[in-house]
Amino acid sequence: MSTRKLLVDVHTHVYLPRYAAYLRARAVAPRIFSRPVPGEPDVEEDRLLILENEPSGGRPVGPQVYWDKSQKLAFMNRHGIDVSVVSSANPWLDFLPASEANSLAKELNEDLEEFCSSSPDLGSPTSGGGPSIKRLYGLGLLPLVSEASLSDVLKVITQISSLPHLKGVIMGTQGLGRGLDDEELEPVWGEIERNGLVVFLHPHYGVPSSVYGGRANGHVLPLALGFPFETTIAITRLILAGVLDKFPSLKIMLAHSGGALPALSSRLASCIDHDPVVASRLKHNARYYLGRLYFDAVAYGPEELGFVSSAIGRSSTYDDPSASASAIPSLESEGKLRVLGSSRMLFGTDHPFFPPLKATDKWKSVTENLAAINAVAGWGDEEIEAVCGGNALRIFDLV
Ligand code: URA
Ligand code: ZN
Repeated sequence: MSTRKLLVDVHTHVYLPRYAAYLRARAVAPRIFSRPVPGEPDVEEDRLLILENEPSGGRPVGPQVYWDKSQKLAFMNRHGIDVSVVSSANPWLDFLPASEANSLAKELNEDLEEFCSSSPDLGSPTSGGGPSIKRLYGLGLLPLVSEASLSDVLKVITQISSLPHLKGVIMGTQGLGRGLDDEELEPVWGEIERNGLVVFLHPHYGVPSSVYGGRANGHVLPLALGFPFETTIAITRLILAGVLDKFPSLKIMLAHSGGALPALSSRLASCIDHDPVVASRLKHNARYYLGRLYFDAVAYGPEELGFVSSAIGRSSTYDDPSASASAIPSLESEGKLRVLGSSRMLFGTDHPFFPPLKATDKWKSVTENLAAINAVAGWGDEEIEAVCGGNALRIFDLV
């Protein structure tokens, strides 16, 4: 059974209306507020302030991109996207007390199920016919905040598993307030694994703003560097805690192509080698774990995607914890590594973030990521089709 060529966006966000209303009622970040448009005192615009110290009073926000389903579908149509796996945007429920986070998570999961189940049918994803799939699927929210009751979190995993259009969860890096290497999270990983859900690990906090200096660089440093480094540290802590060893079927997809992890995995392996306490905890060499993860292809450049796929592809050669760097691969085997690694990479857009600054038909943030996928040295039609959609159909269990 072969699958049709589909373009599937696995990194695309929404603030559901219930969440937007919640943000609108708040007086401190995260919040949505109205202010006069600069230079047009009689016209009001809504702004989204995610962090209190954001430059330029946050970003413009409105139903057109953040919560209207028909607008999400119009965006998909304009860019040739067949299916989107939609997730709530940051900061999710992180700022709420545990009981509110729990009730809002359950309500938002129901809302997201309705958002997806009421989307149009796409037809069968397989060339030989078969049941139709929808244009929208979703990733639910867990009430992961400090003081959360573990049994509440486990019940929400059960809820998400019972909602047919939700295929996983989106998760930040805080866990129950102590990060993702917290031993108390083990039942959560176990339950997510048992239900075959995908964890989409996504940043929000970046790194401490003191490292960005005083120059006015807008959002550039937090978004380009802070976000990916946050993800890198969170997933590395999870690996070092042995979570991927304990839960061998757990599916984790990293935002922004895994941040710096692919580039630093050999350094990580070397540091572990020189630290017997940490080394004794892990079943494999650090590089091996790249091949246990999934990576969105939101990297904006073919060289970066090629590099990530090579690093994933060579991971299986580092099964043994004491494995050391093999000889530099010949061009032929480098090509093979890239082909292997492409099976774990998935197209994404990060919509509705990164909108074009001037009115234009297509968003550069989309076309650039697509062009990058099409230009990776060593990827042929098969790999490109897999990264554009085939991998997502398989990993999110849509076929
Ligand atoms: N900015 C955000 O706050 N979130 C994203 O996902 C992308 C950009
Ligand atoms: Zn995102």
